Amino acid sequence: MKILVTGGAGFIGSNFIRYLLERHPHDSIINLDKLTYAGNLENLRDVESNPRYAFIHGDIADAKLIREVAPGVDAIANFAAESHVDRSILDAGSFIQTDVYGTFVLLEAVRELRIPRMVHISTDEVYGSIETGAFREIDPLNPSNPYSASKAGGDLMVLAYWKTRRLPVLITRSSNNFGPFQYPEKVIPLFITNALSDLPLPLYGDGRNVRDWLYVQDNCAAIDLVLRMGQDGEIYNIGGGTEVENLELTREILALLGKPESLIQFVTDRPGHDRRYALDCEKIRALGWRPARAFDAALEETVRWYQEHETWWRRLKSGEFWDYYRRQYGVKGEAERAGGLSTQVGGQGEGVGGTPPLTKRP
Ligand code: NAD
Ligand code: TYD
Repeated sequence: MKILVTGGAGFIGSNFIRYLLERHPHDSIINLDKLTYAGNLENLRDVESNPRYAFIHGDIADAKLIREVAPGVDAIANFAAESHVDRSILDAGSFIQTDVYGTFVLLEAVRELRIPRMVHISTDEVYGSIETGAFREIDPLNPSNPYSASKAGGDLMVLAYWKTRRLPVLITRSSNNFGPFQYPEKVIPLFITNALSDLPLPLYGDGRNVRDWLYVQDNCAAIDLVLRMGQDGEIYNIGGGTEVENLELTREILALLGKPESLIQFVTDRPGHDRRYALDCEKIRALGWRPARAFDAALEETVRWYQEHETWWRRLKSGEFWDYYRRQYGVKGEAERAGGLSTQVGGQGEGVGGTPPLTKRP
């Protein structure tokens, strides 16, 4: 297959490209990526000279460019997105532009150019929070924040093109991914790299929110299966089946690094913070998929990867990253260098939010 991967310079996309090149020796890949703050060609250094791989710098919302790049591809795998909940609460515009409008541009290209298949990569967050049980693919969407709302908008557009035009489109909705090459703003790489620098780990609210963790390689295997074996118009949940409270996750990371729990700092909760995510994965299991990696072993491997790739993440944790960090966590000037955090997060520095901190550890 000749596959157009969008957003391939990001975390999951770069792992997926490597997975395809290794698993499918006759596939070729075009990676189209805008290279936002989250896009990083270093994630693909080892494959860039592979004759079956090509990179194009561009935006999925650029209809003219997509019409130049997409003719002749057998499939599109759309990973391109603004992907961080906290950033979406600070500033939602780019999320709507890429996650909704960009998805529409790709759908139009699939229609006009008669591309045989498009897999749209989505998230369990479109369902919203669930106290008990697990979401099925037929459940209604109930997103809580601008990120999940824009992903839901993209999903609904994909489904509308299936319903109205029978376009050959499919959706995957996975739970929280972790593994190598994840930008250090998401909780696992942020906490690992903060701990490695002896900086506080800002845990939102009471730390009891639950996420279902999925090793990125397992997600890549599932997406590849959907790409080849999935049915048009269908949605596939992909969950790791490993539910962990944030506090427990944080303690595990600190234990793996041999760092003290005094680094944990409870801070104001994220506005609209979903309590728990959980997915029913019967449908993807019926295609023959199971997560291959046990959570604890995969987490340990991930921690070691960040220990061994300090140059990679230190380059990202500079410049724009600290501007964002200051806005999000209220860290100011000298306090940042000393590792101090405000206990008021979520843009309080800009007058948003304002609820008092729940707990403060010395
Ligand atoms: P990421 O933020 O690491 O990477 C996103 C990539 O998309 C970056 O390379 C960025 O440069 C690129 N991009 C952004 N806007 C673009 C545009 N307009 N045109 C072209 N490229 C653009 O994200 P990720 O964690 O790898 O997530 C990939 C996909 O998987 C997203 O669609 C996300 O919603 C979904 N997802 C992620 C998770 C997770 O835990 N990370 C879980 C479920 C679903
Ligand atoms: P995150 O990695 O941002 O993924 P998502 O919000 O898409 O699930 O966050 C995972 C969990 O970790 C979520 O419950 C929020 C929490 N969290 C913190 O407690 N502190 C942080 O600094 C971050 C980034 C997340």
